[in-house]
Amino acid sequence: MDKKTDNAKQDLIRLQKYLADQGIASRRAAERLIAEGAVQVNGKTVTEMGTKIDPSRDRVKVNGELLGGTQRMRYILLNKPAGYICSVQDERGRRTVMDLIPEVSERVYPVGRLDYNTSGLLLLTNDGALTHQLLHPSHEVEKTYLAEVEGFLPRGAVEKLCRGVQLSDGLTAPAKARVLRRKEASTLVEICIHEGRNRQVRRMMEAVGHPVLHLRRIGEGFLDLQGLAPGQWRELSAEEVRRLKNL
Ligand code: URA
Repeated sequence: MDKKTDNAKQDLIRLQKYLADQGIASRRAAERLIAEGAVQVNGKTVTEMGTKIDPSRDRVKVNGELLGGTQRMRYILLNKPAGYICSVQDERGRRTVMDLIPEVSERVYPVGRLDYNTSGLLLLTNDGALTHQLLHPSHEVEKTYLAEVEGFLPRGAVEKLCRGVQLSDGLTAPAKARVLRRKEASTLVEICIHEGRNRQVRRMMEAVGHPVLHLRRIGEGFLDLQGLAPGQWRELSAEEVRRLKNL
């Protein structure tokens, strides 16, 4: 199961993460399932925690039930409003993105996260392999944001954003940034990044001295929000799914 060529190695994923991505259990509960001998990979019971699998090839069963095999694959494009949390449940009782897609009965999960106060484009799917592919650092797809930031953002700060800024978790990769509108009290910036660090745009703007007032994701790869009002969602077309898989 993990003896593939070097090229394929980057597509391997830890078994407990795969189970969590498939919506079987939290990562910790998935580890318990593995330890208890409830998980089989290609017909063999696996109890070792470091085991990695290739979701596109390996057949994983939990308590005898094949994962990813029978349920309908869903690919949802949501225009998330601010004020919703990107998780399935919130211990503080806040609204979650799941509240916006009550018609979807399959267990879909957000592909990455938008902060509670960030709005815009969010993909949700039950396709664990695609989630893994889209979030993998070597594939990280370009994401475009509109950020309204505090104050008058000077050219030097835009150049810094483009070159990369030093954050607590290291230098950011070069971004594309351009000012769309400058006012005395705020500046509207379009910024494209292809990393997926926690609160990355907010932290980048803080690092150049202009904290974010409003943040909206308007694009991910070739996808945009055309035709979707805040709170609305649509299913991706088969062609869009194919293009995503080929990104
Ligand atoms: N960057 C952020 O700071 N927040 C998001 O929600 C997404 C990207």
